[in-house]
Amino acid sequence: MEQEDSVRDRNRSPEDIARRKPRGAKAPAKSNRSEPPAQGEGLLSRIVDVVTGRASETEDKAPEDDPVKMLERDHRKVEALFEAYENAGEGARARRKEIVEQIANELEIHAQLEERIFYQAFKSVRPEEPKKLVRESFEEHKIVKTLLAELSALEPTDEQFDAKVTVLKESVEHHVEEEEDDLFPEAKKLLGDEGLREIAGRMRELKVKLQAKKRD
Ligand SMILES: [Fe+2]
Ligand SMILES: [Fe+2]
Repeated sequence: MEQEDSVRDRNRSPEDIARRKPRGAKAPAKSNRSEPPAQGEGLLSRIVDVVTGRASETEDKAPEDDPVKMLERDHRKVEALFEAYENAGEGARARRKEIVEQIANELEIHAQLEERIFYQAFKSVRPEEPKKLVRESFEEHKIVKTLLAELSALEPTDEQFDAKVTVLKESVEHHVEEEEDDLFPEAKKLLGDEGLREIAGRMRELKVKLQAKKRD
């Protein structure tokens, strides 16, 4: 069954995989992330909601008004791309290179949204703990950027290519877990609805600009 899935996934785009996969398939030990209902009917209806796009309508805030949801959506997309990389198989060198380039594009834009807008919002808050989390996040971004720069200089036939993608994936997973478990809940608590909406608006604008720049 697992094998059938991976064969099927090879023919799917990362977007298809991201749509198919509800959050919570890989539950971390400690997590504040919203998980889908346990099993059975709840899970099925959640999958239907995700596939049909109804999921966002059932949450309290529309994703475009919620910077946390926007960032989480990017996280899921990058996870799906890593999954597509693994499913592409070792023989599919060109496809793997293309997927790594897509991952790099997604992460570059995502990091800018966070560094230039989302993380900056913590500058004006008083508690020290979230600021510490933001400082750590900047450092983790640097590690990811270094790995991406090294990967861009390699060919998929190079011995180090796969190893570097694995380390990149692990670094991204670790960072995403910290953001979703610690930083994002702090943001919701400290910034309030109005603050979050304002950040979301600026992030949307910047994202459109950065995506247009990438296409040029
Ligand atoms: Fe980040
Ligand atoms: Fe992030």
